[in-house]
Amino acid sequence: MTFKKAILCIGAGYVGGPTMALIAFKCPQYKVTVVDIDPKRIAQWKSDNLPIYEPGLDEIVKATRGRNLFFSTEIEREIKESDIIFVSVNTPTKMFGAGSGMAADLQYWEKTARQIREYAESKKIIVEKSTLPVKTALAMERILTSTENEVHFEVLSNPEFLAEGTAIKDLENPDRVLIGSRETPSGLKARDELIEIYANWVPKERIITSNVWSSELSKLVANAFLAQRISSINSITALCEKTDADILEVAQAVGMDSRVGSKFLNASVGFGGSCFKKDILNLVYLCRHYGLNEVADYWEGVVRINNYQKDRFILNMLSAMFNTLAGKKICLFGFSYKANTGDTRESPAIFIARKLIEEKAELVITDPKALNNAMIDLNGIDGKVSYVEDPYEASSGCDAIAVMTEWEIYANLDFKKIYKSMAKPAFIFDGRNILDHKRLYEIGFNVFPIGKPALTHF
Ligand code: NAD
Ligand code: UGA
Repeated sequence: MTFKKAILCIGAGYVGGPTMALIAFKCPQYKVTVVDIDPKRIAQWKSDNLPIYEPGLDEIVKATRGRNLFFSTEIEREIKESDIIFVSVNTPTKMFGAGSGMAADLQYWEKTARQIREYAESKKIIVEKSTLPVKTALAMERILTSTENEVHFEVLSNPEFLAEGTAIKDLENPDRVLIGSRETPSGLKARDELIEIYANWVPKERIITSNVWSSELSKLVANAFLAQRISSINSITALCEKTDADILEVAQAVGMDSRVGSKFLNASVGFGGSCFKKDILNLVYLCRHYGLNEVADYWEGVVRINNYQKDRFILNMLSAMFNTLAGKKICLFGFSYKANTGDTRESPAIFIARKLIEEKAELVITDPKALNNAMIDLNGIDGKVSYVEDPYEASSGCDAIAVMTEWEIYANLDFKKIYKSMAKPAFIFDGRNILDHKRLYEIGFNVFPIGKPALTHF
């Protein structure tokens, strides 16, 4: 079969894999290839056991793999053969040198740019899919045009807004697709080519365009705004716990104002995930770079409150359990940073687990999809940790349960049975407010929700 165009994606991760699978699914006329430097990851994408868990992903990969979706490690050959290259490599927080702990680590991204420059033999559209500091496209252009290579490259910014756990739904039905381009004739032509791909399934009015810098910045700001909502509601949980107000009632009352909106107001033990913290710190770093310290301080507060919330959770556990956790057995319900994913990057559960071990508690961790990643995250930790898939078995004999992830299964467990099997007094710390607290209290538990009055038998 001859394809209209060849699309390449460099980086077969949580974004590259699902995004390209969906483009292949919706656009059979394009050949879509995903490459990665990690041969193990590519082998998994070619197998029945995909490297990431995402509802609906298996079906889409099955329908397209071998038809117009391909996975490969032959990066150089694929660069040569492609017309449009999406770059979706990781851009973690830099952990060394200048900007350590704040700035984006652009080494993977820059290697990719150099590789494209070296192997491209015909004109290409380069699409930034990774989340990058504003003005990165300019650096990309400079690298691409810094040799004798006469090939023309047009760099576009097309940030990804999917959330894990709902990636396929978000990709199929995005609130918006954002494409940033140069206003030059070749920039606008490249933009139209990218619009043409998305127009196969996204209504035209939801495909918005801007200049490159607005597009790059919008992605950082979108994540900062989302995280800010969580820190806002989480900051108020602390006040609720002091005043007998109930965060669910407050969130409902505030969120029903249509100007505020009701989404993303779920109080929690803290936000996790690979992006919120890194993208806010990146934004903070950029602001400081431009001397905008007040702006930087403002956004840094979002991360500060998130750390405070996790600290508070541990302190609440300690004070509820008579100021000592040493030798107590605590079961963590969930380890992924949110439900419906096995991803544990920056999961609050990692922080909580480490702190509990510091307090000399014994841990039992249960999670339907994230136990393998949990084992990697806590590898080498100096303390007693076990990993048990069945929540009944996991909580048996424990002094306390701490809900870390809002997996639906946890709300529907037989808590009478669990209560019977636990040490007494039995405690539940609901870090996601997903359980029926009154009923748990009636069963006999001492219940500590987030931002709601505790229900105790003492
Ligand atoms: P990831 O770590 O899951 O995947 C990145 C992949 O790139 C890895 O498999 C890595 O091996 C590969 N890679 C690195 N350097 C490479 C190179 N030179 N050549 C080929 N492959 C290379 O990361 P991710 O979660 O998919 O995130 C990718 C980007 O998308 C980040 O910038 C992130 O901020 C952004 N983003 C992520 C999400 C999300 O939900 N995870 C959502 C929106 C945006
Ligand atoms: C987030 C954004 O929602 C995506 O739009 C963005 O593309 C992505 O980051 C990214 O750039 O990586 P994600 O981190 O996958 O997606 O998941 P979210 O649903 O945003 O949840 C992030 C964290 O906030 C989770 O730990 C979640 O449990 C927590 N959260 C979310 C709350 O504590 N309360 C809420 O009300 C919502």
